[in-house]
Amino acid sequence: MTQIAILGFGTVGGGVAELIDLNRKAIESRLGEGLYVKRILDLRDFPGSPYADRITHDFEDILSDPEISIICETMGGKEPAYTFSRKALERGISVCTSNKELVAAHGPELLEIARKNGCNYLFEASVGGGIPIIRPMNTSMAPEDITSIMGILNGTTNYIMTRMEHAGIGFEEALKEAQEKGYAERNPEADVEGHDACRKIAILSSLMCGRTVRYEDVPCEGISSVTVNDFRYARAMQMAIKLLGTSKRDSEGNFFVRTAPYLVPASNPLHSVEDVFNAVYVHGNTVDDLMFYGRGAGKFPTASAVVSDVIDCARNPGHTLACKWEPEIMKLSDPAEEVFRYFVRLDKAEEKKAAAAYAGAMMLEAPEGVTGECALLTGPMTEKAFSEASAGLQVLSFIRMLG
Ligand code: HSE
Repeated sequence: MTQIAILGFGTVGGGVAELIDLNRKAIESRLGEGLYVKRILDLRDFPGSPYADRITHDFEDILSDPEISIICETMGGKEPAYTFSRKALERGISVCTSNKELVAAHGPELLEIARKNGCNYLFEASVGGGIPIIRPMNTSMAPEDITSIMGILNGTTNYIMTRMEHAGIGFEEALKEAQEKGYAERNPEADVEGHDACRKIAILSSLMCGRTVRYEDVPCEGISSVTVNDFRYARAMQMAIKLLGTSKRDSEGNFFVRTAPYLVPASNPLHSVEDVFNAVYVHGNTVDDLMFYGRGAGKFPTASAVVSDVIDCARNPGHTLACKWEPEIMKLSDPAEEVFRYFVRLDKAEEKKAAAAYAGAMMLEAPEGVTGECALLTGPMTEKAFSEASAGLQVLSFIRMLG
């Protein structure tokens, strides 16, 4: 019997305990032995819960228990999750986490501590919820030269964008719905301003290049300024608008990494990824395109990813699984040199000036319901050239086009 502990008995931590009970037989048959949740750390008590007798408020109870060999860190946030994870790994206790904030900030350091102590720091649940993406990148894609990753990495914002597109409602109303359904956090800033997706693309980019892509270095835009009119134009062009994390190698071997809303053409598989679903589209030089799709958030999908890591640890006692992610900082390509086509909305009075400023742009007909403004789709141009061309124009909004 492998004995484990859970740090943080919230949605995901609770899901881990329940999943281990629910799928006990399947886990036992695959692992060859049972998994048992011996201790659960939380500030609260849970009277009446079947796990009430296992709750502790003192991390030392877990750290000093020689029977506990694996910890699930589902607390979220940097502290005390960082201190607890570090202390556990230093004692040779493996840590399986859903904490993208901690992985993005301290991943390589915690991986190194795990290596030195013959245990594992695994983080499948930190990106894409229940979607297996970290393990495939470390194993199935090990022979690949991965040249690009793009993904819908935040379920809350994808839900909001889907509702704006199909129900024709504004951002605030769609956000309120997402909060009522329990998708968005009460303080939704990390989701809607793109920080959550930014951390996730930084983690994936780090695994792609084997060095550390700092999320602070990644240009990050959220969805709070996307409007109903943007969706009207997008629909007329048969495109969707999605918040994407993107990472692609340039001709010199460096990477452009970005988080922003994009226009996604119907021909791209990410176009049809809706609601709280996430998808990650990866290109390897020999395997070609791969797409990973599933629920990017939620209790059981995320818990499933955590428990898959627990099973990997239990199967490999004393052995550190391969994960190439060095602490060396990856210098990113200059974002001003990245080339896109841009969908631009302007005041109607700017039409002639805009046509001249963005040479070769395609002027767009106003869809039903849009008045007092004009819009165009530029040809491919660098960010630098685009901001130079936009100077002096009353740009209402712009969105980059994927492709
Ligand atoms: N807030 C995140 C999302 C949870 O909506 O995707 C999963 O990381």
